Amino acid sequence: MKTALVTGGAHRIGQQICRTLHQAGFNLIIHYKTSIVAAQALADELNLIRANSSSIIQADMSQVTSIQPLCQSIKQLDILVNNASVFYPTPIDTINITDYQNILNTNLTGPFFLSTTLSQQLSHSQGCIINIVDIHGDRPLRHHSIYSISKAAIAMMTKTLAKEFAPNIRVNGVSPGSILWPENQAELTPQQQQSMLDKIALNKQGSASDIANTVLFLAQSNYITGQIIAVDGGRSLNQ
Ligand SMILES: NC(=O)c1ccc[n+]([C@@H]2O[C@H](COP(=O)([O-])OP(=O)(O)OC[C@H]3O[C@@H](n4cnc5c(N)ncnc54)[C@H](OP(=O)(O)O)[C@@H]3O)[C@@H](O)[C@H]2O)c1
Repeated sequence: MKTALVTGGAHRIGQQICRTLHQAGFNLIIHYKTSIVAAQALADELNLIRANSSSIIQADMSQVTSIQPLCQSIKQLDILVNNASVFYPTPIDTINITDYQNILNTNLTGPFFLSTTLSQQLSHSQGCIINIVDIHGDRPLRHHSIYSISKAAIAMMTKTLAKEFAPNIRVNGVSPGSILWPENQAELTPQQQQSMLDKIALNKQGSASDIANTVLFLAQSNYITGQIIAVDGGRSLNQ
């Protein structure tokens, strides 16, 4: 039985990636930072479908010291999905080192050291890493410079680790466009949402399943490495 670790797997896109991989026959390690109740509820639900198929694990990805203990508890692994991230505006005139470190550590440093630390297990299984990027790693999102930089960096991390880990581990990325509206401090007004939709060639948001299905496709594509697939309804076609 193959095992997948999905970071930030309790909610939203990460949760759907867990469900899709589980349905395809993978066992799951569902990582969370704060959402223990949702993570456990998902694991319980998946274990009812297939006994002993899911477990949960906690770590703050912004703290590189929490990565080693997480990895030590994982003996066998076939897929790592680096999905967890933070997203909020950082207007350039109020930019500060705390936000810079929080966003870069969570979106880049954590996934990088998680990937390198788990490379032995992944190499042993001839497994793969799938990074959830963002089309704004290519084209900057206004007022989100640090987030955009973090996603540009994880795009390069995808390519450079694909080279470093070949031929034993494949490394690919999925680059979502607008899938689920941001929450909390990143919330958009209805006007801002409409203006985003107007720029998408297919005129609508994607779904978490669109991302999860592409993750599954890459997990099963044994001759693809170093690639990043945009799942953005054609958003990248427009300025
Ligand atoms: N939503 C979109 O439309 C969209 C668009 C483009 C790209 N993306 C990318 O797709 C992925 C999923 O997006 P999403 O909107 O579903 O994500 P999200 O809800 O914003 O965050 C996913 C999870 O990340 C975890 N997380 C945050 N900080 C963490 C930390 N320091 N350590 C460990 N985990 C942490 C949280 O876990 P807990 O809840 O357990 O704390 C959270 O549930 C992200 O990489 C995002 O950048 C999303």
